[in-house]
Amino acid sequence: MTSPLISRRNILLGSLGVASAAALSGCGAPADGGTAPARSFGRPTPITPSPGQRGVKKTLTAAPTTLDLAGREVTTWAYNGSVPGPLVRANAGDFLRLTLNNRLPADTTIHWHGLRLRNAADGVPGLTQDPVASGEKFVYEFTAPDPGTYFFHPHVGVQLDRGLYAPMIIDDPREPGAYDAEWIIVLDDWIDGTGTTPDDVLEKLIADGGAADSGGMGGMDHGSMGGMAAAGPWGDAGDVTYPYFLINGKPATDPDHLSAKPGQKVRLRVINAASDTIFAVALGGHRMMITHTDGHTVKPTEVGAFYIGMGERYDVIVTLADGVFPLVARPFGKTSGGQAMALVRTGKGSRPRADVKPAELAGTILIGSTLQPAESAKLPAKNPDTTLDLSLEGSMKPYRWGMNGAVYGQNEPLSVKEGQRLRINVTNATMMTHPLHLHGHTFALPSGLRKDTVLLAPMQATAIDLDADNAGDWMVHCHNIYHAEAGMMIALKYAQ
Ligand code: C2O
Ligand code: CU
Repeated sequence: MTSPLISRRNILLGSLGVASAAALSGCGAPADGGTAPARSFGRPTPITPSPGQRGVKKTLTAAPTTLDLAGREVTTWAYNGSVPGPLVRANAGDFLRLTLNNRLPADTTIHWHGLRLRNAADGVPGLTQDPVASGEKFVYEFTAPDPGTYFFHPHVGVQLDRGLYAPMIIDDPREPGAYDAEWIIVLDDWIDGTGTTPDDVLEKLIADGGAADSGGMGGMDHGSMGGMAAAGPWGDAGDVTYPYFLINGKPATDPDHLSAKPGQKVRLRVINAASDTIFAVALGGHRMMITHTDGHTVKPTEVGAFYIGMGERYDVIVTLADGVFPLVARPFGKTSGGQAMALVRTGKGSRPRADVKPAELAGTILIGSTLQPAESAKLPAKNPDTTLDLSLEGSMKPYRWGMNGAVYGQNEPLSVKEGQRLRINVTNATMMTHPLHLHGHTFALPSGLRKDTVLLAPMQATAIDLDADNAGDWMVHCHNIYHAEAGMMIALKYAQ
């Protein structure tokens, strides 16, 4: 078989694109209440905000730039010249008009991760739009219906593993905001510009995996990653050896500073924008109250530390003590590159070392899927109208990851009808952990917990339930961007 990269690209620009065009042109009004006429493939038909709807506009210019990593300059790609890129913030119900200006030497798109938006604005090349060519612009227009902590990134190749990511906050205009300050904490694993690029990394993973000659998916050969496996819930958790881990674009040796007054309550919105790294997060000397995950409210749960997978978000409230404290994100199962750290300063104190180990990380670390949903966040109880199976498969040798028996483009799309309650029985049939992400919807775990991204440990199985209330063609994929690009994606399509 040819390289999954090449076969996928061919398929994206070939048969799938044509199929999508047919499916999309038949769709009805978008579920976000917009007033779109029939949509056409490739160019979301401009929709006009409804009377009285507040508008938010921003231009995001994706371009090469440099990033200073504690004195080491690296070249990378970023939005508006910063890593993370600029915050996009709006109220739930606002109409967003976000212009992507592509100044990269490559095609790109923007995907608004976690948002239940109109399909045509979802940013998936070959499924919801054509890729935006170098030098071109593209306008994303959508209503953001649900409050929460989100982020955005390209949906092309492994561009997420460059500096192309930024936070997005949708505020609830009715929420009182019972806290004194808010800090956005964006986690990342960093390799771009350090003598290699994410594209080179992927190429090497595929080359090191050897010839793809073992036929079907379902292999569980993942025993060859000496030094990567670690004790803990996630088994073998990553494929790439990163030289840096960042909080808000800065390494632990030149940490971001977050200041407040002792006794103040702060809301931390923690976003994992990494491509291949699960982190354990703790604030030295503090307990944290988890209030939301992936934008949805949970029964407030006090923890010393929690795991966060790629693509997940957690909101926590912390009451700050007096002094200087390390906010640490420790990469799970990685033995080099140190850790990510920011400094929280409310008073006098000496600066913790870049390799400080907060005691909280030696205690219990919460696994997010064990959180309980707030009553208001529960998906109403209902028997599924249709049930599908989804199997996560693949191996390191050959480096090939897939779903339901094949790589993306060769696997059969999942199909649902608008209005159905869909149950997907998901099985991780590999020896690695995968963050499973669904576009355009949120799903409920059997506990009722609402998520759009969930970590599935090796061989773990779970049902996820969702209401098919947002017609279109959507991606379901592993949020390890190397796995996704190697084929671990599948489409979820609304049948007519
Ligand atoms: Cu952040 Cu398709 O995902
Ligand atoms: Cu994966």
